[in-house]
Parts: sequence; C-alpha cells; structure tokens
Amino acid sequence: MMKATAIAPANIAFIKYWGRKDAKLRLAYNSSISMNLSACTTTTTVEFSSDFIEDQVSEGFDARRILNHVDRLRKLAGIHTHVHVTTQNSFPTSAGIASSASGFAALTVAAASALHLNCSEKELSGLARLGSGSACRSIPDGFVQWDDTFAYSIHPPEYWDLRDILVIVESQAKDVSSSKGHDMVTTSPHFQKRLERIPDRIARLKEAMKVKNIQMFGEVIEEDCLDMHHVMQTQVPPLFYWNKQTKQVIDAIKKSGLPAYFTIDAGPNVHIICEAKDEKEVVNLLRTKYKIMVNKPSKGAHLI
Ligand code: PMV
Repeated sequence: MMKATAIAPANIAFIKYWGRKDAKLRLAYNSSISMNLSACTTTTTVEFSSDFIEDQVSEGFDARRILNHVDRLRKLAGIHTHVHVTTQNSFPTSAGIASSASGFAALTVAAASALHLNCSEKELSGLARLGSGSACRSIPDGFVQWDDTFAYSIHPPEYWDLRDILVIVESQAKDVSSSKGHDMVTTSPHFQKRLERIPDRIARLKEAMKVKNIQMFGEVIEEDCLDMHHVMQTQVPPLFYWNKQTKQVIDAIKKSGLPAYFTIDAGPNVHIICEAKDEKEVVNLLRTKYKIMVNKPSKGAHLI
C-alpha cells in the first residue's frame, strides 16, 4: 500500500530565520533555534494510487506549493502515480503560526513513507526545508537548531518544561507571505548588522538553556525578535506584521513583572515564553481578552 499519515508540530523560533542566501534551495543566511509546539499541529495523509485520475489536495490549502513538494519526492522515488493529500491544522492557517512549518514537515514524512523512501531524520529535515525553510526544524524532537542544510535536536522535549502561551490576536491569513519577505531582506540597511550579532546571540541562548536561566533566555529571544522585526520594517517594501493588539499583549506582560518573555514571527500573534510554574499566572492575565493556546515542548514529526 502507498499510503501514510503523519503529524508534525509547528515551531517557535527563539533565534529567527529571516532571509535566504539561496531562495530555490531555501538556505538561510543564519542558523536558527526553535522549540516544537505541542498544541499547534498539522496532520496529513498522503496516498498514491494508479486508480486516481488526478492529483488532489484538501480545500483551503496551497495546492500548487504542496504538489510541487510531492513532485520532488515522487522524482526521488521514480514514481509517477497520482496523489491525494488530505491535511488538517489544529490552529488557524497562515496567521503567522508557522503553518508552513508543520505542514511541510507532516507532508514530507507522510509522502516519504508512502513512497517507501526510507529516509533518515537528517534527510527528512533537508527535504522538508525545500518545502518551507522553517519546516526543517519541525522534523527533529524538542529544542532544535538549523545550520545550513538540515536541523537537529539540541535537547529533547522533556529537557526544560517551558511553555509557549500563544496569544491569537488575529486568525486571518496574512497579506504578505514570509516567502516574499525573505526575498527582500538585503534591502534593509540593518540586515547585515543583525547577521553579525547572531553568533554571539546563539552562544548566549545556548548558555541560558544549559543553565536553564529563564531571564537570560528571555532577554535573548526578545532581542532577536525585535531585531528581526526591525529588519522586516526597514526592508523595501517595508513589512509590518504587528498590530495594535500585538503591542498591547507585550505591554501587559511587561507591566505584570512576570518572568515571561515575548517573541513574534511573521504575523501579529504573540508567543509568551515562560516556565511551567508561571503558566497559570500568564494565562490568567491574558485569557479574558484574547484567544490562547498553551504549548509545551513536543516531539518532532512522526508517522501515526
Ligand atoms: O519558513 P518560512 O518561510 O515561513 O519563514 C519563517 C520565518 C519566521 O517565522 C519569521 C522566523 C522563523 O525562524 O521561524
């Protein structure tokens, strides 16, 4: 049988990937570090059959991009039969919750298995990267680093009981896709400066993870988030992903004095990172005003 189902988590980047030195191969200018998210997942079933008369993809998804990725894998396997792809997200699509990361990770693992490709984790990560850069980080477990062509786990999910309290201020699809944004990164006068600061930032983040110091950790993630958005906003054309509520959530967290820290991807939603012991207080602070999803560190993509 040529059918398989996989589930993959979205991931939140602590050191962000923004800009690629090779757009086609989706090779990033800088290394990035992320955590897989337990509550934000994509589940995808891929089936190949000579009974199918055409390729089909679940409605509401970018069929062309998905089928381009399936074609890559079909080529690798030397198989030409049609495919049916059924996919479902546990969270709003295209709202800056990295649906492309969980989506292409789940698609890669399901399609590779349905095609009997027998790939290693490293190969699956490299293949997922070709679908969406950040997808390569949704393949390995827990806390993950992406250097160059593939991503690997630096700590298992149970290493540090962190929470990502995702505050959904907007669940509409975004105006400018991250793919388009990546392409214009070198037009920002601040792009090069951010790149120069990344190695030291990665070293500080990894040290904070080693000693599990949430304050040191939080300061680094906020610094890189603001730096990436500064680059985005100074690109030509400028990209403003925040909205009024994004700022309100940040203000509420800062005012509370809780050991909880913000980070934001290519969308207005805010990820508040804290230790498990502070989850309740953070949730209580925000839940009356916003829709919230509580994430724990999770495994990477796998077959189900
Ligand atoms: O993989 P893409 O093209 O959706 O890029 C994602 C970029 C950010 O989410 C903004 C940062 C990151 O590292 O996830």
